[in-house]
Order: sequence, then structure tokens, then C-alpha cells
Amino acid sequence: MLKGKRVLLGVTGSIAAYKSAYLIRLLQQEGAEVKALITDAGKHFIGIDTLRALTGHEVYTDNFLTDGAWRDSHISLAEWADVYLLAPATANTIAGLACGMAGNLVTSTALAFSSHRIAVAPAMNTAMWCSPAVVDNVSLLRRRGVTIIDPGEGSLACGAQGTGRLAEPEDILAALTAILVTNKPLSGVRIMITAGPTREWLDDVRYISNPSTGKIGFSLTRAALAQGAEVRLVMGPVNELLDDIIAGAELISVESALDMQREVSAGIDTTDVLIMAAAVSDYRPVVRASGKIKKDKDVMTLNLVRNPDILKDIAGRAVNCVLIGFALESANHLENAQRKLADKRLDMIILNDPTSFGAETGSFTLLMKNRGPICIDQASKDNLALSIMEKIADILKERKRTDENN
Ligand code: CTP
Repeated sequence: MLKGKRVLLGVTGSIAAYKSAYLIRLLQQEGAEVKALITDAGKHFIGIDTLRALTGHEVYTDNFLTDGAWRDSHISLAEWADVYLLAPATANTIAGLACGMAGNLVTSTALAFSSHRIAVAPAMNTAMWCSPAVVDNVSLLRRRGVTIIDPGEGSLACGAQGTGRLAEPEDILAALTAILVTNKPLSGVRIMITAGPTREWLDDVRYISNPSTGKIGFSLTRAALAQGAEVRLVMGPVNELLDDIIAGAELISVESALDMQREVSAGIDTTDVLIMAAAVSDYRPVVRASGKIKKDKDVMTLNLVRNPDILKDIAGRAVNCVLIGFALESANHLENAQRKLADKRLDMIILNDPTSFGAETGSFTLLMKNRGPICIDQASKDNLALSIMEKIADILKERKRTDENN
């Protein structure tokens, strides 16, 4: 299954490091080539000679080798590998990954990989695995798109019973196979999704916003991940707990339209498809008053200034990106949506109406350039998201064909 795939294995200081030897064999039996890195702590638990003999490659141990044997750097190792597997990964290494530490070769190498090419198989005592710091760090890594291969339950090296033992090598192999072998329609496609409302503060205790719940954004994220895409989700303030829903996506939380514009702009050069599902506030207060505005007038006038149109502004810069918007209309639905499709230079716009705010289902119309409208009546947001992903795959295929013919 892994023929031609290259796995970089980072071994860290856990007793479970002895299982790395079997893991290397298993990966090789599936056709993968393996190179290994090890931390100083890891060396207490498995010999470098064992790893060198099994992998057939030099085993790298720190950033500062001076004996001339150094042929690869953390950057070239990241270029060489298809996936970076940290197994076993200690609480210390997981904290290092979460904070972006570059204190040793194993963590600095992780910085040279995109999160979607990193898999982490933790191993530690149950109390450590359940400690708030480790729970938060693991959750942060999941949100960034790192694959966490959950530890198993059973007897631990310390004599206790519980969760924390390194996942079985066969389970680690299965998780790596899922990362490396994908024939999904959107494999490797980088999709940025914006969702939820934005919040524009009037003073320190009040804001202008709207009732968007971000549900369409969650459905789009789930559908995109299921089809193999890499997802960056830029999310306005919502109430739902996101972790389980969008595990595997990179989550960026924002508040205002300007925050959202900054994050969309920062990510656009590495995005193939932008879906603006966010209900962006069109206006913000000219100034945010400090403290709390007092009710000392009978009539109060708010001075608002127009927010940038994030989607329209990015269209000029993102010429190779597939651009998708939503049109929320309460009158002249089709006409307004068609105008937005053209005006914002979009590949597709999804027309909906205010009743879809917070609802589980809705009626939607997909409008695309040079094609008739597609009506999706009373569909769940998950079904809408699947239809959108199908259309995205079609648009990308069509673009590829056009590029090949030119
Ligand atoms: N949008 C945006 N930036 C804004 C407003 C909207 O990027 N400041 C995006 C939305 O995310 C959506 C599309 O533009 O994908 C259309 O948003 P919509 O609210 O329907 O329309 P507007 O362009 O804001 O126009 P109007 O409010 O006049 O209908």
C-alpha cells in the first residue's frame, strides 16, 4: 500500500520507543522507505545502531553535528518525506509542537512540514495524557490539521492500567495509510472557508452582529475534509464547541470583518478554493468608544463606516483561485445573486434567504458562470455542502483540462 512513500520517523523519550523497530519493519513491508530522527531522551530507550540498521540510513540526532556525516537538514528531510510520524511522542514533544519550539531536531523538523503531513502517536502515563496542558496541546494540534493517533488502553510501563500506551504499530500503519493513500476527489486541494458572523464593537460591552451560527461552515469543512481537501477555516464568533466537528482542519478564530479580511488575505496565496460562507457585517462603528456608552440622550445616532468587501477585494489578487460566495437575499433573489456572481467575479454563488440562519435545512440555488441555476430544495446543510464539493471538483477538473489544452 505504501510503495514509493517516504516516512520520516521521529522517536522521542518514551519506553515505547522499543516498538519503533517493529514499526519500521511494518512500514517497509508495505513498501515505504523510512528515515529516523531521535531526541537525546529517545536514545535512552532504543539504540541508534538499531534504527540505522533497520532503516539503512543515517539516524539524525541533533541540529549541530559537525563530524561531516551530516547530509540532511531539517528542511531537506521535510522535502524528502511524504509524512512525518512522531512515534512515540512524549508530552514534552507534543508541547514543543504546539508551541512551535525548535529546541531539538525532532521539533524543529516539524516546523518545516505542513500540519497535514504530520502524524503524532502519543505515549505517556494516563494522568499525563489527561492533564489539562496535554489535552489543550493535543486539541490545538488536531485543530491545525495534525493527525493524532490516539493512545490505547492497557498496562502502562509505570505499572498502572489506563489510557496512554502507544497505539499498536498496525493502527499507526493504518493511520499513515489513510494520510498517504487517497484517491479522493479533492485530495491535496487547499480550501479556505470563512463562516459565522463578524462582530463590530460599539463600545467595550456592545457590538453589532447577526444570528449566523456557522453551521454551513461546519458542514462545508466536514465535506471538504471527507473528500481529501486541506481546510483552513476562518471562523467568526460562534457558540458551538468545534473540536470534534472540524478535527483535521486548521481553525483560525476571528471577531471583526477587518480581522477576517486580514486572515483571508494571509492565506490566499496558498489557497486553491475560497468559500466565503461568513455573514460579514457590512458596516462597523466609525470609532469604538472606550468603556460603556451612557444613555444620556433620548435619540442616539450611530456613525458607521463601510467594511471592505472581502470577497470582491480578494478576487483581483486570487486569479488562479476558485472563488465561491453566498448571497443572502430577501427580495429579487435571483437577480441580486446573479449580479453578485458577476460583480465579485465568482465561479459560483449559493443563493439563500434569511430563514436559513441557524436552521438545519434550507432551500438553496447554486449559480455558476455560463450554466443554468441548480435548485436544492429543503436540503440539510450537510447535503448542500456535498453538492458544493462536487461542483468544486468539476470546476477544478475543467480548469485542468483548459490548462492542458492551452
Ligand atoms: N462578503 C464579503 N465581505 C463583506 C460582505 C460580504 O466578503 N463585507 C461576502 C459574503 O461572505 C458572501 C458574499 O460576499 O459570500 C455576499 O454577501 P451578502 O451579504 O449576500 O451580500 P453583500 O455583498 O454584503 O451585499 P448586500 O448586503 O448589499 O446584499
